[in-house]
Amino acid sequence: VNIVYATSEAVPFIKTGGLADVVGAMPKYLSKKKYKAFVFLPKYQCIDEKLSKNLKFVCSFYMDLAWRKQYVGILEGNYEGIKYYFIDNEYYFAGDKPYNMIHEDVEKFSFFSKAVLEALFYLNLKPNVIHCNDWQTGLIPVYLKELYKDNYFYNGIKTIFTIHNLNFQGRWAVNAIQDATGLPEYVFTDKGIEAYGEANYLKGGLVYSDYVTTVSPTYARDICTPEGGVGLDGVLRNKGNHLFGIINGIDYKIYNPRQDKKISANYDARELKGKKKNKRDLQKMLNLPQKSDAFVVAMVSRMTDQKGFDLVNYVLDDLVNNYNIQFVFLGTGEKYYENSLKYFHEKYPDKVSAQIGYGEEVAHKYYAGADAFLMPSMFEPCGLSQLIAMRYGTVPIVRETGGLIDTVEPYNEFENNGTGFSFANYNGEELASTIKYAYDVFCNHKRMWNNIIRRDMTFDFSWKASVQKYEELYDSLL
Ligand code: ADP
Ligand code: GLC
Repeated sequence: VNIVYATSEAVPFIKTGGLADVVGAMPKYLSKKKYKAFVFLPKYQCIDEKLSKNLKFVCSFYMDLAWRKQYVGILEGNYEGIKYYFIDNEYYFAGDKPYNMIHEDVEKFSFFSKAVLEALFYLNLKPNVIHCNDWQTGLIPVYLKELYKDNYFYNGIKTIFTIHNLNFQGRWAVNAIQDATGLPEYVFTDKGIEAYGEANYLKGGLVYSDYVTTVSPTYARDICTPEGGVGLDGVLRNKGNHLFGIINGIDYKIYNPRQDKKISANYDARELKGKKKNKRDLQKMLNLPQKSDAFVVAMVSRMTDQKGFDLVNYVLDDLVNNYNIQFVFLGTGEKYYENSLKYFHEKYPDKVSAQIGYGEEVAHKYYAGADAFLMPSMFEPCGLSQLIAMRYGTVPIVRETGGLIDTVEPYNEFENNGTGFSFANYNGEELASTIKYAYDVFCNHKRMWNNIIRRDMTFDFSWKASVQKYEELYDSLL
């Protein structure tokens, strides 16, 4: 059984967020006896040279796209047993990052989506299922059904569309998208890919694919409501029992405190001494006082509204002035949040550190070195950071939304169970009091705190269980 994954990012080649972790890991864990996985990616210029230099040219051709003829090169790579195909076109995939202005991105992913379908033919690779991810690949099921329906080679190919984030939909003016895709006019209606007067790639993925999945059961329910549906809840409700919520896993080969070479000392649930060394080294690296009794709270995150940084801004003064807490931030994103955290960093150099940047390697040091990991998200389809944190014995403090509900069980002091701390309403007071509660357990109930750490570290967030659910979906489509 051939499964083709189409995606705009995948670890280790290109990553801006959790989507890359998911597509970079999941295919590796499919049962090898039964499935063959192929991952299709754009050949971005910004892919690290160490990786791109090993890719082999396979073939090239010119593709019709609306009134244009576009060059498509195919390169091939192998990584940890998975075959990767890269769609090459220097005009579309130049630049120092995978995404740019939305009006450019819609055109480039209309190209990418069609090129993936054409490449299958040139590679003589007939998939049973094409598994699409997020709006960037939303047009694949649309092209397949509208432009390839009479083509023998494409007959019987099924599609799954996974929503990693409903807030990014790939929307643009209908006439421009008609021009960029060459899709017939009737596609741009309410029954097709039009929504609220615009062309909407994600909606295309929802309407035209056989199954829609998203990355946690709670988010799957949330997005069917007007509050959580970002305008598409009606379309999602219409999918009925063809909409599934499957929780993400994390790659245990990459995130393993017992073997991780990116951290200062290895450790496991039985022997936490190494974690203390990681904490000291993190404090040292960030020029914070190396105090073991300070409660180190970390965030490693895209700095956007989604992730709750406005709440963080609201509570920092109080927590920093009145408690023995150190906050450590690693991330990039909206300038407003970057600047506010830089401001707190300067205001409290002994208690707040803000590293504005993206660092795969250094991120591991945060996960291993901190005591608690903060994720007060406004919404969260799944969230991988809290899973990584737990794996490293760093206790999550989260807001109860989406995948955070499904993965973090609130600590219960009376029953001595739970894996983290959580609050319900998106407001600063609740966040502050939840951090204070965690701080109190950390300072005054060490045994309980260590029990939480051990539960976190031994909980199974590997891909094993989730991959089985995807396999069941693939099988039911065959
Ligand atoms: P999202 O996909 O919404 O950004 P997830 O929690 O699913 O959130 O995944 C985020 C991933 O990106 C995690 O692997 C996290 O460690 C990583 N990440 C986010 N910001 C940074 C950063 N500045 N440096 C390194 N890794 C980061
Ligand atoms: C998105 C979501 C995040 C999820 C990730 C991988 O970026 O914001 O919650 O974990 O995709 O599915």
